[in-house]
Amino acid sequence: MLHPVMRLSDCHNIDDFRRLAKARLPFPVFDYIDGAADDELTKARNTAAFAGVDLVPDVLAGVAEIDTSCTILGRKSALPLMLSPTAVQRAFHWEGERAVARAAEKYGLWFGISSLATRSIEEIAALTSGPKLFQLYVHKDKGLNAHMIERCQAAKFDALALTVDTIVSGKRERCLRSGFTTPPRFTPRAVWSYATRPKWTLDYVLREKFRLPNLDTHVTEGSGKAVSIAEYFNTMLDTAMDWDTAARIRQDWGGTFVLKGIMSAGDARRAVEIGADAIMISNHGGRQLDGSRAPFDQLPEIVDAVGGKIEIICDGGIRRGTHVLKALCSGATAASGGRLYLYALAAAGQAGVERALGILKDEIERGMRLMGVTSIDQLTPDRIRQRH
Ligand code: LAC
Repeated sequence: MLHPVMRLSDCHNIDDFRRLAKARLPFPVFDYIDGAADDELTKARNTAAFAGVDLVPDVLAGVAEIDTSCTILGRKSALPLMLSPTAVQRAFHWEGERAVARAAEKYGLWFGISSLATRSIEEIAALTSGPKLFQLYVHKDKGLNAHMIERCQAAKFDALALTVDTIVSGKRERCLRSGFTTPPRFTPRAVWSYATRPKWTLDYVLREKFRLPNLDTHVTEGSGKAVSIAEYFNTMLDTAMDWDTAARIRQDWGGTFVLKGIMSAGDARRAVEIGADAIMISNHGGRQLDGSRAPFDQLPEIVDAVGGKIEIICDGGIRRGTHVLKALCSGATAASGGRLYLYALAAAGQAGVERALGILKDEIERGMRLMGVTSIDQLTPDRIRQRH
């Protein structure tokens, strides 16, 4: 039987965008997005964790008017949902971070760009006045770190998120098998996959050249010279980074400061001590330490330790509006995710991201109405139960 070709209008949830991305991308590129570390247990747990808790709805609450907005890191957000920074988006769709920035602005949401973004800090700042953060990877090259921070200051980024979970690269076995590099290279093993995805391949070859404009002032790896992400991390990043480094970066930056990749209550307390404004509880989408706990599972103990002292963003595994509601009921300020918009970007560029965000917005609104909740602050711990 012939399978009908899947289209964007066939996507009704995040998993549908994943299937569309899989159909449209050469496998090394898809596997870079979809893959995680080792046995990918943590990646699966990140989403499965949400099924460990049940929502308890109230009814007859008068939900004609509801307000889904909240304040995150001092700026208004239309939903309690952020788009986490993710790297090398030009490899997924030729418009890359530009498409995500525009879609985020349209939906009134925070988004982030990575140090390994394929659009420059300045281009993104000129494109949108919406809330945006820059995800800093601390390099051995101190001049590069300082340069990125200065560029973010000049471009008036709203926040700096220091990545703390990537001191070395996780073992990405799908990338080892596929030979995925940045910039992507056509390897003999994958050439058939590139040849049978002509849209991606022509966009890649004919559109603007792949660049890492926030790094290529100082390094050629990843832009001029093709390397795997693992090789990049393992040779370029500063394994000596510690709490003093984090405190110093917060001072140098001087603005709203986030630690991305906190997983323990002890580290959350130290984040408060160094004056961070927020933590993102995150295991990097399961791409780093496999076997690490899910952010959602760690939320209660971290909320106990630092709730009210710092904003707490639950990053990882979000695929549904109800996941966002559960994170908020557990005490998170907001939820955040990468793959939830990346599959859509890869599948269909800005139109894809907009459709994915529209679906998540609908799911959050529907979920709130079915919960009998008219504003975000009504999502409290008494509205959920742990499954046994
Ligand atoms: C990754 C980095 C680049 O997980 O965020 O691949």
